[in-house]
This record gives sequence, C-alpha cells and structure tokens, in this order.
Amino acid sequence: MAEKLLEVRDLVVKFKTDRGLVTAVNNVSFDVFRGKTLGIVGESGSGKSVTALSIMRLIPNPPGQIAGGTISFKGKNLLDIPLDNMRSIRGNKIAMIFQEPMTSLNPVFTVGNQIEEVFKLHQSELSKADRKNKAIEMLKLVGIPSPEKRINEYPHQLSGGMRQRVMIAMSLACQPDILIADEPTTALDVTIQAQILELMKKLQDELGMGIIMITHDLGVVAETCDDVAVMYCGNIVETADVKTLFGHPQHPYTKGLIESIPSFDSTTGIKKERLPTIEGMVPSLFDLPKGCNFQDRCKSASDKCRGGNGEPILAEIASGHQVSCFHPMNY
Ligand SMILES: Nc1ncnc2c1ncn2[C@@H]1O[C@H](COP(=O)(O)OP(=O)(O)O)[C@@H](O)[C@H]1O
Ligand SMILES: [Mg+2]
Repeated sequence: MAEKLLEVRDLVVKFKTDRGLVTAVNNVSFDVFRGKTLGIVGESGSGKSVTALSIMRLIPNPPGQIAGGTISFKGKNLLDIPLDNMRSIRGNKIAMIFQEPMTSLNPVFTVGNQIEEVFKLHQSELSKADRKNKAIEMLKLVGIPSPEKRINEYPHQLSGGMRQRVMIAMSLACQPDILIADEPTTALDVTIQAQILELMKKLQDELGMGIIMITHDLGVVAETCDDVAVMYCGNIVETADVKTLFGHPQHPYTKGLIESIPSFDSTTGIKKERLPTIEGMVPSLFDLPKGCNFQDRCKSASDKCRGGNGEPILAEIASGHQVSCFHPMNY
C-alpha cells in the first residue's frame, strides 16, 4: 500500500455573507496517497476550490472559517500548527496550481526570476548561480524548449500552454509531496490540455508525489485519476476508485456527469456532438431543500428524498465505494 500523505476528515468550511452563514464544505473526508491521483469533481460552486484552499490554509478569514474537521499531513494536523509555520509547508511540501496561470504569475518579473524566488524562499542555501541553473533545469523538465532563453522572458511572451508549464515548474521546484491542481487545464484548448495532463502524469511517476486533481470534467478524471470524490453542494455524494465509479456509478448525479462527458475528434480536437447535460440548476447554498440536495434534478427522486428522512448520508455500498443516495443505482 502506498504511503498515506494526507488524511482529511469531516472538514467543514463556512462563509459569513450579507445573506447569512453558508456551509461551502460539509463534512468532507478523503485520503491522498503517494504516487496516486485523487480527483475531486463537481459542477461550479460545489466546494472544490474551498476544499483545496483549506488544505493550504488559504481560506480568507473573514469571511471564511474552517469550522470543523482535521487535515493531517503525514500524521500532523495542519489546522493545529501556527499560520507562520504553514509557509514552510506551502509551496515546499504541498504546492498548488490554479486554472488561470496569468493571474498567478507576476507580469513584471521574468519567468526565471519567479522560479528562482521559490528556491530563495525554501532553499536559501543555494547560490544565485545554482538557483538560475535549477530554474533552467525545471523549465527543461516541463518540456519548455530553449529554457536558457525562455528564462529571461516575461509571462505575456508565452502562450497559455507554456505559461501553465511554467506554473507547473514553479510548483514542482521544491519537489512537493502533494500537488493540488485546481482546474489546471480548463483555460486551455484540448490538445494543449492533453499535453499538460500527460506531463503531470510523467512528473508524478518521476517524483512520486500525490496529486489532487480538481475539475468539473469527468473526462479529465477518467484520464488522470486513481480515486474520485464527487462533490455536490459542499458534500461528497459518491467516492470510489476510478474504474468502479465509471463502471458502477451509484449516484444519479455521478451518472449524469458521466453521460455529459463530451467526446472529441482526436485529430481536430473538435467536439463531436452535443451531449445531454444534467437538467436544472444547483440549488443555492442559502436555500437548500429539505432532504436530498439533488432531488429537484433527479429522475429517481421519491417522497423519501424530499424531506422527512433528512439528508442521505454517505455510506459504504461496496468495499471502498461510498454513496449518499436513498435510491442508489443497481450494481
Ligand atoms: N470568498 C467567499 N465569500 C463567500 N462565499 C464564498 C467565498 N468563496 C467561496 N464561497 C462559497 O463557497 C461555495 C463553493 O465555492 P468553490 O469552492 O469556489 O466552488 P468550486 O467547486 O466551483 O471550486 C461558493 O458557491 C460560495 O457560496
Ligand atoms: Mg473552483
């Protein structure tokens, strides 16, 4: 069994807003193992980014607050350590890349400067020349051609795909144990997306890190993940290994997501057909229904789901396969 790097248990994150208190993440639990990729998937607003930011202790407070649970990294609860000490973990042991690399790269510094800055922060023993050489090495690692030249360029001189490669180079500079990738390819076209995902896989094999792949696209999950957690309205509604999830989806929401994976023509990268999407909208966190949060969009919803019985709770339906639904699909 691979080493368990991260254990999240019963994580609850709330936000104070003008309209009241919302629970953006509700009792979420999962594990991340060395060399493995956990996918967190769900529509916009389901609590994926808030979960990721909680692990980094980057939830803005106020208005946000981690209201419960534990986040254990190699056995140590990150929620107990002083925020100052998080700096030596963030970027060093646990790194994160975001959807839009342009907003995370600083436009006024060269690509080289920004990678060297990571070394300055976490490996202060390195000389200036060493830092530069290591930055070139990192750009080479992520497949950027002529890194000796590219290192002197500014972010705006690079294409979207190249910028995301730079972000990956920065995040992997200190060889973190865990990489959190929050929609890393959403802003890129499909061919570049495939290249970036392949690159991440290759680097994972070389460096042995655990990855949390956050995406709204189950197609990305199918290609990159070992295990999957499906989120809806702040809750994990189904979790299983990737083969089981695609082979035997139990939650109607998971099934809907699988049915709406677009297929692409691999040579042109063009979407082949329009696919059914899940009808209806995600309910507002301010106004969640009694009973199951998915009831209004669910073809199998019964009176049982519309209140009375409370919310369905996540329960094991087969070994390693959990679902929170009153009417799980047949195996
Ligand atoms: N800074 C914030 N202030 C208030 N509410 C927030 C804030 N960030 C997130 N939320 C709430 O948390 C919910 C989940 O957000 P998020 O985790 O970003 O979703 P996603 O799954 O799209 O990444 C949002 O719909 C919103 O209600
Ligand atoms: Mg997000």
